[in-house]
Amino acid sequence: MLEINKIHIFISNKIRKVKLRYLYLFLTLPAILLIVELLFGKLGVDPMREIEKELGETALKLLIVTLSLSPISKLTSINFIRFRRSIGLMSFFYICLHFLTWLILDMQLRWDEVIISITKKPFILLGMISFILLIPLAITSNNYFMMKLGNAWSKLHRIVYLAIFFAGIHFLMMAKTIELNAVIYFLIILLLLSLRLVKLKKIRGLK
Ligand code: HEM
Repeated sequence: MLEINKIHIFISNKIRKVKLRYLYLFLTLPAILLIVELLFGKLGVDPMREIEKELGETALKLLIVTLSLSPISKLTSINFIRFRRSIGLMSFFYICLHFLTWLILDMQLRWDEVIISITKKPFILLGMISFILLIPLAITSNNYFMMKLGNAWSKLHRIVYLAIFFAGIHFLMMAKTIELNAVIYFLIILLLLSLRLVKLKKIRGLK
């Protein structure tokens, strides 16, 4: 028991000392890796598609990690919450890159094609809705807006659950057949949503 306590204190201290700028730097690695793979011709026959997919998947993984930090902190009694903003913002960074790859490289800024894709392909529409929902969250993810918005800030940031739900369906609907990867991500998203619902119910029950 004493050993477990020691390990717990050790990890907590280490976590507290992590400099967030190093975390940001670390989270640019997937983008750097993609550039290296592109330069060495490792992205297969359709590099653009590979880049688009890789950026989308990285964004979704980071968004899932962002939302997992709160339940993991509760479960372990180690405060991982201080990483939430950095990881969330880096997820948004990858979403922007994913969106720009689609708009510039895939659609080649052909606006008529963009409109057709959004209106005719439900998975594109869902990705777009998810992206739009995340914009105000990214803009207000700083101390200035946290102070200015007060209680409304956490209410606003609950939108992230809707955004991740749409992102999960976006991935599920993307392929013509059911992709195991997409199903696993979606199940994790559902688990995170249900944990959040249980928490909200508890808060309301206490009032
Ligand atoms: C701005 C709106 C969005 C557009 C236009 C868009 C577009 C696309 C497209 C065209 C693909 C398919 C690539 C292919 O042909 O294989 C795709 C895949 C994907 N997108 Fe998006 N997307 C958007 C938003 C998002 C968001 C917000 C997320 C996650 C947070 C996301 C995550 C993914 C994932 C995980 C994939 C599948 C990657 C894979 O196959 O491994 N997308 N997206």
